[in-house]
Amino acid sequence: MSDPAPAAPALAAWRTRVDAALDRALDAHAQPGTRLHAAMRHATLLGGKRMRPLLVHATGALLGADAAALDAPAAAVELIHAYSLVHDDLPAMDDDALRRGQPTVHVAFDEATAVLAGDALQSLAFRVLADGPIAAEARIAMVRELATAAGAAGMCGGQAFDIDATGRGGDIALDELRRLHALKTGALLRCAVRLGAIAGAADADAAAALDRYADALGLAFQIRDDLLDIESDSATLGKTAGKDLAQNKATFPALLGVDGARAALAEQAEAMRAALAPFGADAGVLAALARQVVERDR
Ligand code: IPE
Ligand code: IPE
Ligand code: MG
Ligand code: MG
Ligand code: MG
Repeated sequence: MSDPAPAAPALAAWRTRVDAALDRALDAHAQPGTRLHAAMRHATLLGGKRMRPLLVHATGALLGADAAALDAPAAAVELIHAYSLVHDDLPAMDDDALRRGQPTVHVAFDEATAVLAGDALQSLAFRVLADGPIAAEARIAMVRELATAAGAAGMCGGQAFDIDATGRGGDIALDELRRLHALKTGALLRCAVRLGAIAGAADADAAAALDRYADALGLAFQIRDDLLDIESDSATLGKTAGKDLAQNKATFPALLGVDGARAALAEQAEAMRAALAPFGADAGVLAALARQVVERDR
């Protein structure tokens, strides 16, 4: 995969744009001065890699879209992601006290506020998208994409699957586990790439190649997440290490062992490389993001 260094300035500039868009949206629409607003800011702005919004920008830029047309979909998908983390950490789900190196929202505030902050972040995502300076047809396509990826046929469906499978460890078929990961994590990452593709009016061939890239990236992202839970520590991760084992979660290492999970990750890295090949050097930033996903240490 290509050298990530040339991608760094673009990624840093987009990250600044994304953080500014999130900050603006929260202050404009989430009632500053309230406890709910403070909880929403805590969930959104304190850390995070911003992988999903960076994918929106990188995909859109590859296809020649204006950065200004990418700010709204980039912020929207990150708001859905932030909401998913707040709810994922609740006592009723993974019961986690640490996220992005901070106390989780239900610990820093309270459980009711965490439920509401998640709900309100989800609503805010669609408000931001509705307001984006994007042609009406593309905007509707983006709303449809994000709603599908966030809902029962996407992230929420995957989270329900994850809860059902909790306690089973590696007692799950490989294709079932791939589907679980594709939904709970893959759906939003794929959506991020698709939002960029919509903004850039991708033709059918480009859209299909980008879908192949995104599907491999989604699976790679969660396999790496599963491995980090075992191989890293809480200080580096900014979240509690060893949780999956403690809760006997259905994960790639639980099913295939650490070496098997590493091999599965390498397969997805190769699939990403193959999917990006038709774009040549233009896909350098997407290739750099692929590398980050595979090699990340948090
Ligand atoms: C964590 O996502 C949850 C998973 C989907 C595995 P990230 O690793 O992208 O979390 P942040 O946004 O960087 O904190
Ligand atoms: C979370 O997966 C996926 C979503 C939030 C949708 P995990 O439960 O593995 O994520 P972490 O490890 O808590 O970040
Ligand atoms: Mg979880
Ligand atoms: Mg979790
Ligand atoms: Mg995890």
